[in-house]
Formats: sequence, C-alpha cells, structure tokens
Amino acid sequence: MVNLYLHFIRRVSINWIGRLGVILTTSSFITFVCLEILRLGGIMTNAYIGLITYLTFPTLFIAGLLLIPLAWWIQKRREHRSIQELAGERFDADDLVPRPMGSRLVLTISGLTFINIVFMTGASFRTLQFMDSATFCGTACHRVMNPEWTTYQVSPHARVKCVECHVGEGIEALIDSKLSGARQMLMLIFDAYNRPIHTPVKELRPARETCEKCHWPEKFYGRRMDVFEHFRPDETSTPFYTTLNLKIDTGREANHSGIHWHIAAVNEVRYTSVDDERKTMIWVDVRRPDGSYHRYTNRHVVMNHSGMQTPLSGRSTDVRVMDCVDCHNRATHIYEDPENAVDRRLALEQVDRTLPYIKREMLHALTINYSDNETARKGIENHIHGFYRNSYPHLIESQLPAIDEAVRVAREIYDTHVHHTMDLTWNTYPSFNHHQRNTGCFRCHNENVIDSGGNAIAFDCTACHSILAYESETPLHFVGEPDPKDPEFPMHRMLRDEFLGLL
Ligand code: HEC
Ligand code: HEC
Ligand code: HEC
Ligand code: HEC
Ligand code: HEC
Repeated sequence: MVNLYLHFIRRVSINWIGRLGVILTTSSFITFVCLEILRLGGIMTNAYIGLITYLTFPTLFIAGLLLIPLAWWIQKRREHRSIQELAGERFDADDLVPRPMGSRLVLTISGLTFINIVFMTGASFRTLQFMDSATFCGTACHRVMNPEWTTYQVSPHARVKCVECHVGEGIEALIDSKLSGARQMLMLIFDAYNRPIHTPVKELRPARETCEKCHWPEKFYGRRMDVFEHFRPDETSTPFYTTLNLKIDTGREANHSGIHWHIAAVNEVRYTSVDDERKTMIWVDVRRPDGSYHRYTNRHVVMNHSGMQTPLSGRSTDVRVMDCVDCHNRATHIYEDPENAVDRRLALEQVDRTLPYIKREMLHALTINYSDNETARKGIENHIHGFYRNSYPHLIESQLPAIDEAVRVAREIYDTHVHHTMDLTWNTYPSFNHHQRNTGCFRCHNENVIDSGGNAIAFDCTACHSILAYESETPLHFVGEPDPKDPEFPMHRMLRDEFLGLL
C-alpha cells in the first residue's frame, strides 16, 4: 500500500511545483494528525496550538493539493503536449490500461480523493467546532479579548460558550459572524480596532435567539432579596447594609408589573437614543394592549431637524426594541467599581478584616494612577506594605501572610478591571442594571421623560424594589418595628408597610 502510494507520488510530482505540493500536503496531513492525537490525549491544550492545527495545516493541505494540478498544467503549457501524453510518459503502461472499474491511475486518484474529502470534512468540522470554543474566542487574539476573557471566566456564564450569546443558532447567524470575524481579523492586522472596544455592541443577535434559549421570560417569578454588604473606611472596616427586595416578577403575558414586565410578549418597549448610544433617550414608546403606542419624550432632547434651541440635541437612526441586553448589558463581562469590588471580597472573607484600615488602604492602592498593569502590581504591593510598615510596624511581621493575601486579592481585582493595553480602566463599561447618576433604569424612568400629559414613567423608590435597609447597621433594619422617637420614623414606617403590603 505504502509502496503503491510512493510510486504514485513520485510519478505525479511532475516538476518542482508538483514536488512542493506533494511535500506540503503530506507533511501538513501528518502534522495535523499528530497534533490532534496529542490534543485528544490531553497532552497539548494550548489555544495557539489549536489555532495552528485547525487553521494553518488544513490551509497548507489544500494549497498543496492545488499545486499538483497546477504543476501539470504548467508542464503542459511548457512542453505543448496534452495531459494524456504527459501521463503516458510518466506512468507505466500498466497503470493506464482501461479496466471495468477504471484504470489503476484513475482508481488511485479516486481513492486518494476520497481520503482527502473524508479528511477535509473532518478537519473543517473540527476547525468550526474549535472556532466556536470559548478558548478560541477568548485567547486567539489575546491582547484584544483579554478583558472580556478575564471577566467571562469569573462570571455566572463561565460555562456558556461565547458564541451562544454572540452568534446564536442558524446558518444566517453563522455566516454573519464569520463575515464580521473576517472584518475584525483585518482590523487586528492593521491595528485599526477601537481601544477600548466600542459599546453598545450593535451586531448582537436579538436576545430571543440567544439569552431566551436558556432563560425564557415566563420562567421568572416573584422577588429576589439582595443584601449589599459594604464596609466603612474606618479602622475596623465596619460593615453596613443596603437590602433590596427586587420586584423581578415574570415576563408572562398576564404580568402587569415588575421588572421583567418589559420583555413579556404582549409588551413592547421601543426607544431611540442620542447617537444610538443607548445612554440618553430621545423618546420611549410602549405598546398598549389595543396595539397603539404611548409615547414618552425626553424634554431635554430635541431632534436636530426640529431647529429648536435646547441644552441637548440628538440624532438617531435606529429604533430599538428593548430586550434583555438593555438592562443586562453586563451579563458576563461584569466590571465593578473599585469600592464595590473591594467590599465584595471583604464580604466573601477573602481578606482578613482584622487588619486595621484594610478596606481604606486596598481601595487607595487600587485607585492610584498607574501607567501599566506591571507597574500597578508593584505599586499595590508597595502601597499596602508601606502603610503597615509605617503605621503598624509590629503587624508587618506577625500578620505578613494576611497582608500578602490582601495584596494578592487587590492585584486580582486590578487585573480583572483595568487593562492598560486596551485603554480600559475603572467604570469604562457601566452596567445598565441599576441606577447611578441617571444611568441604567433612570435613562427612561425619570422626571424628564414624559408623555403629552406630562406624566413620567414610574420612578418612585418602591416601584422596582422594596428597601429593607439603607446603609443600616443590620441587613433588615426597616423590617423591624419603627421607633417613634427616631427621626427616620415616617420613612421607616412607610418602607415597612410597603414591604408588608399594608399600603
Ligand atoms: C451570557 C452571554 C455572553 C457570553 C457567554 C459572552 N458574552 Fe461577550 N457580551 C455579551 C453582551 C450582552 C455584550 C454587550 C455589551 C454592550 O453592548 O454593552 C457583550 C460584549 C462583548 C464585547 C464588547 C466589549 C464589552 O466588554 O462590552 C466583546 C469583545 C465580547 N463580548 C467578547 C466575548 C468573548 C470573547 C466571550 C467568550 C470568552 C464572550 N464575549 C462571552 C454577552 C456575552
Ligand atoms: C447556554 C445557556 C445560557 C445563555 C445563552 C445565557 N445564559 Fe444567563 N445564565 C445561564 C446559567 C447556567 C446561569 C447561572 C445560573 C445560576 O448561577 O444559578 C445564568 C445566569 C444568568 C443571570 C443571573 C446572574 C446572577 O447573578 O444571578 C443573568 C442576569 C443572566 N444569566 C442573563 C443572561 C443574558 C442577558 C443572556 C443573553 C445575553 C444570557 N443570560 C444567556 C445560562 C445561560
Ligand atoms: C428592565 C430591565 C430588565 C430587562 C429588560 C431584563 N431584566 Fe433580567 N433582571 C433585571 C433586574 C434588575 C434583575 C435583578 C437584579 C439582578 O439579578 O442583577 C434581573 C434578574 C434576572 C435574572 C436572575 C433572576 C433571579 O431570580 O435571580 C435573570 C436570569 C435575568 N434577569 C435574565 C433576563 C433575561 C434573559 C432577559 C431577557 C429575556 C431579562 N432578564 C430582561 C432587569 C431586567
Ligand atoms: C428604554 C426605557 C426603559 C428602561 C431602560 C427601563 N424601563 Fe422600566 N419601563 C419602561 C416603560 C416605558 C414602562 C411602562 C410605562 C407605562 O406603563 O406607560 C416601564 C415600566 C416599568 C415597571 C413597572 C411596570 C408596571 O406597570 O408596574 C418596572 C417595575 C420597571 N419598568 C423597572 C425597570 C428597571 C428595574 C429598569 C432598570 C434595570 C428599567 N425599568 C429600565 C421603560 C424603561
Ligand atoms: C426603575 C426601577 C428603580 C427605581 C424607580 C429605583 N430603583 Fe433603586 N435600584 C434599582 C435596581 C435595578 C437596582 C440594582 C439592584 C442590583 O444591583 O441587584 C437598584 C439599586 C438601588 C440601591 C443599591 C445600591 C447599592 O449598590 O448599594 C439603592 C440604595 C437604591 N436602589 C435606592 C433607590 C432609591 C432611593 C430610589 C428612589 C429615588 C430608587 N432606588 C428607585 C431599580 C430602581
């Protein structure tokens, strides 16, 4: 068999181009198979190896195959002879004798073509599968994707493939994604991508085809209590609590209230925003059960063409129907602000809270202006060690492991959130799923987005959540009996009654 193959190969490589083709094809085939065996055996798991195995070798293999007929064609032109004549000269007469199933040459070529097709189908399947893996998306263009890859790995979706949110299902989605992938590859080669990557990501598939494959609106129900544990910047990093009972509710048709009301099939919320940035709304529409739309307009924004002089003017080409991503834009690539990031690690007891002023000093170390991530790693250590060496010299000896652990956690926070190579720093990517300074929910729910009767979309403090503690010493402060002597008495009583459904 091997002899037969070698015999054929020697004859078929008609000139140096043909020989090059044969060498390319054979060597890339053998290397591909070897690397694939190593990978399947778990010996090699690196994404770059994957990139080479699945992209480079099949390409070389095809290129090699194409060179062989090219070589014959060139030879034919050069010698002004027909392919038959050339074949007759290079192959034994025996090879060319016509038989019932075809000559030996035809049989060999058909056999090899069959093997090639099987190999190429397998390889393309593996290539596509590999290109769908999170490892490929996250690490192939390491420098660009590092922020997303880092945040992804610690997110609730760390086991969901990138393509399940970014591509969705179906052939149309696949082609779209490969085209935009090719465009991105060019931008990478010519170093023409935005730093940081621009959001909102307008090419995302509609949430119905992605998120809703796993979380369908009808499935949500009820309330969810979130206790936010924060810490004061004092010596003992004293904890305090803000507790919300979030009115998540269902996105079921019958639902008339609650946060997931927006995504129930019967409700449609549409909006346009200044420069399509989804930050400052121009108008917001809601479909009423009779099919008509009820419009709320931002009185601070006037469309350019109206010619009116107002503090803000806006342009928009895109009418967007609200979906999951208008609130959960940070479903996976979650960036906290530095204070929340420190507080959460303290709450998780990853850091020893008996270290004096640890909250204050970690926060300080994180928010110094560093020039790059390497400098930051040193700077964070210098700052925290320096503080204890100067202010609590006895601790730097006895508590060194705890101090070093705090340094490690602070560095981990920094490297998750700040990526100098992508110009990505604290709060570059704000989350829409809360409200600070007129962002998030308050883009629509605020006193300036009003209908023709002057009514705003609900923005009272208990429309979306009951407040059970607000920077309080205990997590359920407002659930307790209010004290008439307390200056907070009326508010306490109101919040308690609201939560208990007594209002
Ligand atoms: C659970 C769904 C989900 C998964 C899984 C996911 N993403 Fe995203 N990603 C999003 C959403 C939603 C946005 C849109 C953010 C916006 O428009 O503001 C986004 C935005 C991005 C952006 C734009 C920059 C940014 O941070 O907003 C990049 C790049 C990105 N994702 C890459 C990845 C990569 C690489 C992976 C896999 C390692 C991945 N994503 C996995 C949902 C997901
Ligand atoms: C392939 C399935 C899958 C897809 C697609 C998916 N998710 Fe998830 N999602 C999960 C799983 C699994 C969890 C974790 C559940 C848990 O921790 O209890 C989760 C958790 C969440 C959470 C809760 C996080 C928390 O802190 O409790 C939110 C919010 C969420 N997903 C939103 C989204 C959005 C928005 C999209 C689309 C951009 C999306 N998901 C796409 C499977 C998916
Ligand atoms: C109007 C804003 C908004 C929209 C639109 C929205 N969500 Fe949510 N969702 C929230 C808020 C707020 C919470 C509670 C806080 C949190 O989990 O971060 C929440 C909670 C969740 C949770 C956790 C539920 C639990 O019981 O813990 C999941 C999962 C989720 N949303 C998925 C989705 C998906 C999928 C969509 C689209 C079909 C969607 N959401 C649309 C605002 C929204
Ligand atoms: C794009 C605009 C927009 C954004 C952003 C938005 N909402 Fe809404 N929301 C609306 C509109 C419009 C209504 C319905 C007003 C009406 O009934 O006319 C509404 C209604 C609601 C309701 C009440 C439903 C009822 O009738 O009782 C809740 C609760 C709510 N939103 C919570 C949120 C939360 C929480 C967020 C942020 C995570 C948010 N919304 C973000 C537009 C928005
Ligand atoms: C349109 C819905 C909506 C309205 C109106 C609203 N909130 Fe919120 N609020 C939210 C959501 C959503 C979050 C984020 C919850 C989360 O992250 O799980 C939040 C978070 C908070 C937090 C927690 C912040 C933290 O991280 O510790 C406080 C405090 C708060 N809201 C107070 C208020 C007050 C006071 C008002 C009235 C002025 C108000 N909210 C009105 C939806 C709303």
